[in-house]
Amino acid sequence: MIYVNNAATTWPKPERVYHQMDDFSRKSGLNPGRAGSLGVSAVERKIFEVRKKVGDLINTSDYSRVIFTSGSTESLNMGIKGLLERGDHVITTALEHNSVLRPLKKLERDEGIELSLLKINKEGKIDINELESRIKDNTRLIVTTHASNVIGTVLDIKEIGQLAKKRGITYLVDAAQTAGLFELDIKEMGIDLLALAGHKSLYGPAGIGVLYIGEGVELNTIKEGGTGTNSLATYQPDVLPDKYEAGTPNIAGIVGLGAGVDYIADTGCERIKEDELKLTERLLDGLKALDRIIIYGKLDIESRAPVVGFNIQGMASAELAYILENRFNILVRAGLHCAPLLHQALGTDKQGMVRVSFSCFNTMEEVDIILNSLKEIIEEV
Ligand code: ALA
Repeated sequence: MIYVNNAATTWPKPERVYHQMDDFSRKSGLNPGRAGSLGVSAVERKIFEVRKKVGDLINTSDYSRVIFTSGSTESLNMGIKGLLERGDHVITTALEHNSVLRPLKKLERDEGIELSLLKINKEGKIDINELESRIKDNTRLIVTTHASNVIGTVLDIKEIGQLAKKRGITYLVDAAQTAGLFELDIKEMGIDLLALAGHKSLYGPAGIGVLYIGEGVELNTIKEGGTGTNSLATYQPDVLPDKYEAGTPNIAGIVGLGAGVDYIADTGCERIKEDELKLTERLLDGLKALDRIIIYGKLDIESRAPVVGFNIQGMASAELAYILENRFNILVRAGLHCAPLLHQALGTDKQGMVRVSFSCFNTMEEVDIILNSLKEIIEEV
């Protein structure tokens, strides 16, 4: 099987991810802070180790600000709902995933939050001047994705971060699609809140994510509960990371995430990106040479993640995905990819789009098989 739905979740994972999760679960399945046994300190050490690895990856040494979550959806909900209050204004883009749009739309409808949505052009880019012109006195938050999960367009988050800093506005970045693949430097890029998915290009399992909370950013908690610390206090402790980590952590997930981050460090983030972009370039060039293919977004690999959205004219994306899977054993994702405004902007809200997304385990041969399969399908219809 050729698996090219890595923007949904990378698969397979590096071998060490499976092994370390299995090994740790068998040997050290204890609950940190919730037992009297000595073994627990090994679990606590391991959790700290992974917190540090993730902190180093995004260039913070304040590891207590690296909060483990269940995934980027929870991280984004925590950032958005924890920060915004009635009367606040927030700016986001038409490129966003529902994990950003839906919390914002709920706050707009139920909590008196004002929402501005930035347009995107055909390449999926926003206009920084439009962003600046939308800022108001009550603008409290700017939220953008780092890269589109549908068409791969990468936004200039450093430019947005600098603008946000200049205007004293908190900047939340959804890096679900880029963490582990693109450099993420919270200081240089002016990022105040950063949401990461463990199971995509960080090569961990599903069910683990991270929210980095920058210094000076105060978030209300959206859940409270046991932390294994300060148990006499009936209010949630203020100390980080405990304040935002109520409940038993996903220990196996954290171990898997740590193994994924190690794999990236050993292989080299830059090398992984270069290899995946070479696959992307070959796919784009091949698609351009085919009849009746419509490619969405950018036609080159400049400022793009290894994600390509396309259609065959006149064919539903779900039908194409079905044929690719059932006849050619190629797994893509079709449909609307949880990004409704992007599909409206590109006119694909009815047809949907077929998406091919790579990981470091895909090969040039696989790209050629995908292209040949598409050629065959086009010749037949
Ligand atoms: N957000 C994920 C995707 O793009 C699940 O498929």
